[in-house]
Amino acid sequence: MQYTGGRLAACPVAELLPGTMQRITTPDAEPITVYNVDGELYATADTCTHALASLAEGDLEDGEVSCPVHWARFDVRTGAALCFPATEDLATYPVEVVDGTVTVLLDAEASGSTAGSAT
Ligand code: FES
Repeated sequence: MQYTGGRLAACPVAELLPGTMQRITTPDAEPITVYNVDGELYATADTCTHALASLAEGDLEDGEVSCPVHWARFDVRTGAALCFPATEDLATYPVEVVDGTVTVLLDAEASGSTAGSAT
Protein backbone atom coordinates (compact mmCIF):
# COMPACT_ATOMS: atom_id res chain seq x y z
CA MET A 1 0.00 0.00 0.00
CA GLN A 2 1.19 3.46 -0.79
CA TYR A 3 -0.03 6.79 0.57
CA THR A 4 1.04 9.84 -1.37
CA GLY A 5 -0.45 13.30 -1.48
CA GLY A 6 -3.77 12.26 0.01
CA ARG A 7 -4.14 9.30 -2.35
CA LEU A 8 -4.03 5.78 -0.96
CA ALA A 9 -3.14 3.06 -3.46
CA ALA A 10 -5.18 0.35 -1.78
CA CYS A 11 -5.01 -2.87 -3.77
CA PRO A 12 -5.15 -4.25 -7.30
CA VAL A 13 -8.70 -3.92 -8.60
CA ALA A 14 -8.57 -7.60 -9.63
CA GLU A 15 -8.26 -8.57 -5.95
CA LEU A 16 -11.43 -6.76 -4.92
CA LEU A 17 -14.10 -9.01 -6.34
CA PRO A 18 -17.82 -8.14 -6.28
CA GLY A 19 -19.27 -8.73 -2.83
CA THR A 20 -15.91 -8.48 -1.07
CA MET A 21 -14.12 -5.91 1.05
CA GLN A 22 -10.57 -5.35 2.15
CA ARG A 23 -9.03 -3.49 5.10
CA ILE A 24 -6.19 -1.21 4.11
CA THR A 25 -3.65 0.04 6.61
CA THR A 26 -0.67 2.31 6.22
CA PRO A 27 1.53 4.02 8.80
CA ASP A 28 0.35 7.40 7.49
CA ALA A 29 -3.45 7.16 7.52
CA GLU A 30 -6.35 5.73 9.51
CA PRO A 31 -7.44 2.24 8.44
CA ILE A 32 -9.79 2.25 5.47
CA THR A 33 -12.03 -0.47 4.10
CA VAL A 34 -12.64 -0.69 0.38
CA TYR A 35 -15.71 -2.50 -0.96
CA ASN A 36 -16.93 -3.84 -4.27
CA VAL A 37 -20.73 -3.71 -4.43
CA ASP A 38 -21.92 -5.16 -7.72
CA GLY A 39 -18.92 -3.71 -9.56
CA GLU A 40 -19.02 -0.28 -7.93
CA LEU A 41 -16.18 0.59 -5.57
CA TYR A 42 -16.57 2.41 -2.27
CA ALA A 43 -14.36 3.30 0.68
CA THR A 44 -15.15 4.11 4.29
CA ALA A 45 -13.31 4.44 7.54
CA ASP A 46 -12.67 0.91 8.80
CA THR A 47 -13.38 1.58 12.46
CA CYS A 48 -16.97 1.21 13.65
CA THR A 49 -18.34 4.48 15.03
CA HIS A 50 -19.77 2.67 18.06
CA ALA A 51 -16.47 1.35 19.37
CA LEU A 52 -13.16 0.21 17.96
CA ALA A 53 -14.09 -2.81 15.86
CA SER A 54 -12.76 -3.32 12.36
CA LEU A 55 -15.69 -3.39 9.95
CA ALA A 56 -13.65 -5.41 7.48
CA GLU A 57 -13.98 -8.30 9.93
CA GLY A 58 -17.77 -8.13 9.64
CA ASP A 59 -20.07 -9.13 6.82
CA LEU A 60 -20.87 -7.33 3.57
CA GLU A 61 -24.28 -7.95 2.06
CA ASP A 62 -26.36 -5.84 -0.35
CA GLY A 63 -24.12 -2.82 0.14
CA GLU A 64 -24.34 -2.96 3.92
CA VAL A 65 -21.50 -3.87 6.26
CA SER A 66 -22.27 -5.40 9.65
CA CYS A 67 -19.98 -4.76 12.57
CA PRO A 68 -18.58 -8.02 13.98
CA VAL A 69 -18.92 -6.90 17.62
CA HIS A 70 -22.44 -5.56 18.25
CA TRP A 71 -23.89 -5.91 14.74
CA ALA A 72 -24.51 -2.29 13.87
CA ARG A 73 -24.95 -1.92 10.11
CA PHE A 74 -23.73 0.81 7.78
CA ASP A 75 -24.52 1.58 4.16
CA VAL A 76 -21.07 1.54 2.55
CA ARG A 77 -22.33 3.72 -0.33
CA THR A 78 -23.23 6.65 1.94
CA GLY A 79 -21.62 5.80 5.28
CA ALA A 80 -25.04 6.03 6.96
CA ALA A 81 -25.44 4.24 10.27
CA LEU A 82 -28.52 2.04 9.77
CA CYS A 83 -29.19 0.64 13.21
CA PHE A 84 -28.35 0.75 16.90
CA PRO A 85 -25.92 0.76 18.63
CA ALA A 86 -24.17 2.90 16.01
CA THR A 87 -25.65 6.39 15.77
CA GLU A 88 -22.80 8.15 13.97
CA ASP A 89 -22.21 7.75 10.23
CA LEU A 90 -18.92 6.50 8.80
CA ALA A 91 -16.59 8.77 6.88
CA THR A 92 -16.65 7.90 3.19
CA TYR A 93 -14.08 8.63 0.51
CA PRO A 94 -14.14 8.83 -3.27
CA VAL A 95 -12.53 5.91 -5.07
CA GLU A 96 -11.03 5.67 -8.52
CA VAL A 97 -9.09 3.04 -10.40
CA VAL A 98 -5.65 4.20 -11.50
CA ASP A 99 -3.61 1.83 -13.66
CA GLY A 100 -5.48 -1.16 -12.26
CA THR A 101 -5.13 -0.05 -8.64
CA VAL A 102 -8.02 0.84 -6.35
CA THR A 103 -7.11 4.36 -5.21
CA VAL A 104 -8.82 6.13 -2.32
CA LEU A 105 -8.83 9.93 -2.27
CA LEU A 106 -8.44 10.51 1.46
CA ASP A 107 -8.17 14.29 1.29
CA ALA A 108 -11.36 14.72 -0.73
CA GLU A 109 -14.60 15.84 0.87
CA ALA A 110 -16.53 12.95 2.35
CA SER A 111 -18.96 11.72 -0.24
CA GLY A 112 -20.74 8.54 -1.09
CA SER A 113 -21.54 9.62 -4.61
CA THR A 114 -18.27 9.42 -6.48
CA ALA A 115 -17.51 5.74 -6.30
CA GLY A 116 -15.36 4.19 -8.97
CA SER A 117 -16.30 1.28 -11.11
CA ALA A 118 -14.32 -1.93 -11.13
CA THR A 119 -15.18 -2.56 -14.75
S1 FES B 1 -18.28 -1.93 17.99
FE1 FES B 1 -19.48 -1.89 16.18
S2 FES B 1 -21.51 -1.99 16.90
FE2 FES B 1 -20.33 -1.94 18.71
